[in-house]
Amino acid sequence: MIELSLETAGAPEGVERLMNRVADAALAREGVGPCDAFVRAIDDEAMRLLNRRTRGVDATTDVLSFPSARYRRGTARDCPAALRREVDPSTGRPFLGDIAISLPRAARQAAEYGHSLEREIGFLTAHAMLHLLGYDHIQPSDRAKMRAMEDAIMDDLRLYREEPMSDDRLFELACRAMERAYAPYSNFKVGACLLTGDGRTFTGANIENASYGATICAERAAIARAVSDGATGFVAVAVAAERGAAWPCGICRQVLNEFSRDMRVLVGRAGEGYRAMALSALLPESFGPADLSKEDK
Ligand code: THU
Repeated sequence: MIELSLETAGAPEGVERLMNRVADAALAREGVGPCDAFVRAIDDEAMRLLNRRTRGVDATTDVLSFPSARYRRGTARDCPAALRREVDPSTGRPFLGDIAISLPRAARQAAEYGHSLEREIGFLTAHAMLHLLGYDHIQPSDRAKMRAMEDAIMDDLRLYREEPMSDDRLFELACRAMERAYAPYSNFKVGACLLTGDGRTFTGANIENASYGATICAERAAIARAVSDGATGFVAVAVAAERGAAWPCGICRQVLNEFSRDMRVLVGRAGEGYRAMALSALLPESFGPADLSKEDK
């Protein structure tokens, strides 16, 4: 688990959760059990002082890590004894060390690379966690190993470096998802791809059942996947079908509406064009979560 000490402004909402997701992915990739680390989110000046005090470098930087364990060979997965020595009796988990991240520097780097601050903080956290697990980037072969782990962790969390998702690409992802439909009864394959405000995508395909009524549409399969992964802020959904445009059915419109009235809905036949409409136009006068929180009249 990561404990975060926020010592400067400018952190995106949910930053501690994001860091914990990254840390969990790093530990899972390394194949070690739960461990703890402490992260300080600081400003450029605090980072400059820390860099000077610990490394003799009088300049700010993006991230510094201070591993508590010494791995004699390889990384944490090769030295279980080194991890055991770091077990904190009060938690029962190894304490891997300390991390400092400069938030203003992370924001500048995100702007420079053209990706989200979330992606940048995710990357810096992954990089620092890997240092705590014994990785480094001094030798070219070590650097390649560390880079491969960083990429894998970013992929696990879908924290892509890409430019904001285009409608064309979102529809293309829905077309690809359609290939995985399980539709032996209707033979009407549908794929869907949801897009969240922070650029994550979640796909789904229709899943039919011998008891026909148990069928799940592609849109709801995608919703189940996204919400199970903690994502709810949807800005768009693309729906692709093999045999013609499949505008979301009534149940799916209602389920999409639960999470965002403002999302855009792109619908078309796979391999052809698509049309876009607002969900609010597809489901006018809807009943949603806000209606339940209204006071009794
Ligand atoms: N279907 C969807 O997956 N999404 C829609 O928007 C419309 C219908 C599926 C459900 C079923 O597996 C098949 O299409 C035929 O109804």
